[in-house]
Amino acid sequence: MPTPTRVGVVADQGPVGPWAERAGLGGFRHLVRRLRWSLRSHEFAPESEAALLDRMSATEIALYRRLSVVDRHHAVHNAAHCLEAGLTDQLVVAAALHDVGKLEAGLGTSGRVLASLLTLAAGRERVASWRGRSGMLGRVGSYASHPELGAAMLAEIGSSPEVVAWARGHHRPLDEVDLEPSVAIVLWQADQD
Ligand SMILES: [Fe+2]
Ligand SMILES: [Fe+2]
Repeated sequence: MPTPTRVGVVADQGPVGPWAERAGLGGFRHLVRRLRWSLRSHEFAPESEAALLDRMSATEIALYRRLSVVDRHHAVHNAAHCLEAGLTDQLVVAAALHDVGKLEAGLGTSGRVLASLLTLAAGRERVASWRGRSGMLGRVGSYASHPELGAAMLAEIGSSPEVVAWARGHHRPLDEVDLEPSVAIVLWQADQD
């Protein structure tokens, strides 16, 4: 496992994590990984999902069940990584629910690829400002706004501050994430596998 040397930089990998969004190639690699993930089979062990559901509140479970099978698989995978790393129950839930804000956009794989490419090219803030417009542009704007939307949804259902913080911060530089850097790095690593 590479060693973090300073905020947002891991030795011999250059800028990584939510920070990769600012480094075009890293962001593009992440997009390719996510696309390959969305195209593979999405069966996961019931016991892995049960371990996650055991740590969620009833309202979090209801939100989780609204996710597509691809996103539920991603959630269970991230949670399993964080369980294995020994993170707290709340951080395991944070790992699983960080992307729930994507629900509003309701985009499928091709729409998500388009939204991610536009975000890489034009910057998240600019694309997020399209939210509220009609049609595909508005949905792409909503997709780019998913960190803030997800944080608001999770705060509204009473999720813990850690869960809300990771939803809000998972595309931000490490020093803007409202969590211990050592914890944020584990959450980010879970998201990259
Ligand atoms: Fe995200
Ligand atoms: Fe993710």
